[in-house]
Amino acid sequence: MPKDGGSGSRGSGSRESEGGGARSAPPEPVKSSPLVPRDSGRAIGVTFVRFTPRTPHDTRLVLWGKRSASAAAAFRQLRERLIERNDPRTILCTSANPGDGKTTLATNLALAYAELGRPRVLLIEGSLRAAALSQLFGFKPPIGFGAQLVRHRGQPDEPWVVVQLGTQPLFVLAAEPHRCPQCAASLPEDARFCGHCGTTVGHVAADILDAVGFGAAVRRFRETFDYLVIDAPPVLSPGGVHEVQDTADAVVLAVLKGHARRRDLRRTLEQISPRPVAAVALLDE
Ligand SMILES: Nc1ncnc2c1ncn2[C@@H]1O[C@H](COP(=O)(O)OP(=O)(O)OP(=O)(O)O)[C@@H](O)[C@H]1O
Ligand SMILES: [Mg+2]
Repeated sequence: MPKDGGSGSRGSGSRESEGGGARSAPPEPVKSSPLVPRDSGRAIGVTFVRFTPRTPHDTRLVLWGKRSASAAAAFRQLRERLIERNDPRTILCTSANPGDGKTTLATNLALAYAELGRPRVLLIEGSLRAAALSQLFGFKPPIGFGAQLVRHRGQPDEPWVVVQLGTQPLFVLAAEPHRCPQCAASLPEDARFCGHCGTTVGHVAADILDAVGFGAAVRRFRETFDYLVIDAPPVLSPGGVHEVQDTADAVVLAVLKGHARRRDLRRTLEQISPRPVAAVALLDE
């Protein structure tokens, strides 16, 4: 747990069996409903479709698992610390390198805010190159976040479509995972060909968020949601944390025990500077 923040632990489990990719299902119903903006927000805003996640849950969803009550408590404690300290409304979850636990941190922190019951929480896939949220929860995005960003360049007043998880006040804006255009198998971010059918696939290096479009989207979401939690790219890899970090009120750093190196953490803090890091979440492997 943080210097001050939260820690989470994950159990073991293979990506294949736990990642949710094989059992991804379209959210139901497909017909979307509008979310009424808080206060004086614009009438055109956000619509949602509802999806009820099924067990077994991905082992990274600590707040939904029974494995570690102490890790779940640590995420709740992190939420409380953030609320006590300025109560940031847009929280960016990042790390030094890929695989350091950003998605684990962002999803569990979003779940912890949603547990409060009243606030509406939006979990945003801020890393199109490492899209993970739809597979983690087991749904197929009605329209991926990347496609929605492109659509909003030409049609800024189109409503955004998000997925509500069950009846919780938790909504997810997920990107399409990197898939084979031929057989739709889920592929690693840097795959050049599909391991299932052998099709050559395009590289996803271009899938970086555009800062202007992302900033406009965040402003719109702030009218409708109380908390935005962004699952951002890592700081030390090319991939766009700088495109999204200006939108955040607070940065929380994920540090996976035994994975992150001290020198990388120092460089990460330097690169994020002068923006302060609100908390460091130490996650157990
Ligand atoms: N489905 C899974 N089951 C178990 N462990 C997983 C699963 N997916 C990822 N992991 C491992 O858990 C750790 C944290 O994963 P997480 O997805 O939170 O990291 P991340 O920083 O979001 O990764 P990325 O940079 O790829 O987005 C990593 O070491 C990863 O290898
Ligand atoms: Mg991730």
